[in-house]
Amino acid sequence: MKTTRRDFLQTSCSAFTLAGCGLLIEQKSLADHPIPAGGYPLVFPPEFTGGVLEAKVVNQEIWPGFPTTALALNGSLPGPTIRVKKGDHFKARVQNSLGESLVLHWHGILAPSEMDGNPRDAVPSGGFYDVEFPVNQRAGTYWYHAHTDKLTGKQVYQGLAGFFIVEDPAEDSLALPKGEFDVPLLIQDRVSNPGHTLAYSPMMDDMVLGYLGDATTVNGVPNATLSVTRSLYRFRLLNGSNARVFRIALGDNAPFKLIANDAGLLAAPIEVTSIFLAPGNRAEILVDFTSFPHGSTVELKSLAFTGDTTMGSSQGTARTLMRFVGQHIGNGGTAPSTLVPFAPHDLSAVKRTRQFMITMPGGGHGGGHGGGMSADLINGLVYEMNRTDFMVPFGEIEIWEFQNMAEHIHPMHPHGALFQVVSRSTSPTLPPEDTGWKDTILVRPGETVRTLVKFDSHEGAFVLHCHNLEHEDGGMMLNFDVTPSTPPIGGPQLDIRHEAEEIVVIAPHDATAYRLEGAPHVGHEALWTPVTVSPVHSEAGMEFRIPAGGTMRFFRLIKP
Ligand code: C2O
Ligand code: CU
Ligand code: CU
Repeated sequence: MKTTRRDFLQTSCSAFTLAGCGLLIEQKSLADHPIPAGGYPLVFPPEFTGGVLEAKVVNQEIWPGFPTTALALNGSLPGPTIRVKKGDHFKARVQNSLGESLVLHWHGILAPSEMDGNPRDAVPSGGFYDVEFPVNQRAGTYWYHAHTDKLTGKQVYQGLAGFFIVEDPAEDSLALPKGEFDVPLLIQDRVSNPGHTLAYSPMMDDMVLGYLGDATTVNGVPNATLSVTRSLYRFRLLNGSNARVFRIALGDNAPFKLIANDAGLLAAPIEVTSIFLAPGNRAEILVDFTSFPHGSTVELKSLAFTGDTTMGSSQGTARTLMRFVGQHIGNGGTAPSTLVPFAPHDLSAVKRTRQFMITMPGGGHGGGHGGGMSADLINGLVYEMNRTDFMVPFGEIEIWEFQNMAEHIHPMHPHGALFQVVSRSTSPTLPPEDTGWKDTILVRPGETVRTLVKFDSHEGAFVLHCHNLEHEDGGMMLNFDVTPSTPPIGGPQLDIRHEAEEIVVIAPHDATAYRLEGAPHVGHEALWTPVTVSPVHSEAGMEFRIPAGGTMRFFRLIKP
């Protein structure tokens, strides 16, 4: 059965709990603009050919017949696709003609700190800045988007995002589908409203849950349909939603092959029937339509899932993302059996573990909306643009441990490095979407995810944040400096190792003027108490060995 757009809206509206779905008005006005039976054909953004990337307010029709104010780059929404070869210099002038501040971030691209799109580097309306840096990283489907302090959610929602594709010889040598068989799909959920506009108007709840829409656009097209030949395709999926997590599957739950995660190809294809794709994540998949009858339709959909424990959230509801319609026989090639070898970081070379504890504001525990009307916190902190929260020595392998003690799903994303996943507490083996190189990691309520990361591209200031853009704008972001020197004394610079029997905390030798304190949670001054075990001096520094199983998990050095 073909689903009409009206059926689709009715289904999603009935599953949607926010008031103001606007269905009645919509049915009336839609009569003037009937949706074609086959949906709207998918379109592709133009390729960026160099020069200026100008961000500007435009009047455009996302839903045909319904003009809306939107934000475009060089007149295009999504922005033009940037395509570079590994080793190329990427060069662009970012021109801000928005009427508000702007900075663009190259997500997953290892750009120098000054060109990375730190919110500190936003330029006012009318301003511009130049970026130029060599792209020296593996082939992959990266992307770019606005990263302006407290405006990221709005600016991305209204259109400021696009693909940044890197190609390299290792990928070229594989016979992967190319040209028309290599299809980038930027998937975003949209909040439907009577005028079919891209109005961004989060309510208080939306700042806690994220701005969750009931409709979907792909490459900016609602109800999108792509005619495919009966052949193998490579789809580059990018979840550019503000807050919506997708659980990607095909209409008939047919298997498909996962070939790449965030930062490029896996060692070998993995056959799957569904994968999680959080905001910020990319996944590349091979779909084989060869045995697919002429004229038949296959949906790309998102399966229902549980995980966000908040009552009333539409996170995890099932939906159709777009449709593929099979045409004549084509030849996109065959799937290779191996891809690009994966070199894991050396676990035995880990220098320190850094913990990021995600807690509810105000320290509440569970209980529906008890957490208050603001985003959760990372290590008890609310983002402050000009405060540096921790230092990371250049070139050292670290474990970054994300512990989600709050109620919401948080896709965590550091700038400045790619990482590998070591473990996910809820799953004895890593799910396929956690394998290979990543830059954004989904952390569900109650989960602890450990990643291996090495900042060996650039020194300087970077951010770590939640890629739920309402959470980011609400303060779920920290600043860190990748530094060549021995970091100064301070809480996060301690070397902390969780071993079976004890927690080993190593403070620098010259920290004798400081006191070591521990706490079960961070963010509450009253919970910090002095550590009573005495240190032993070793080569590494002053070692405090604290029996495991106690309440202390966080440690800091302070001047008594
Ligand atoms: Cu795509 Cu700082 O983010
Ligand atoms: Cu990023
Ligand atoms: Cu979050």
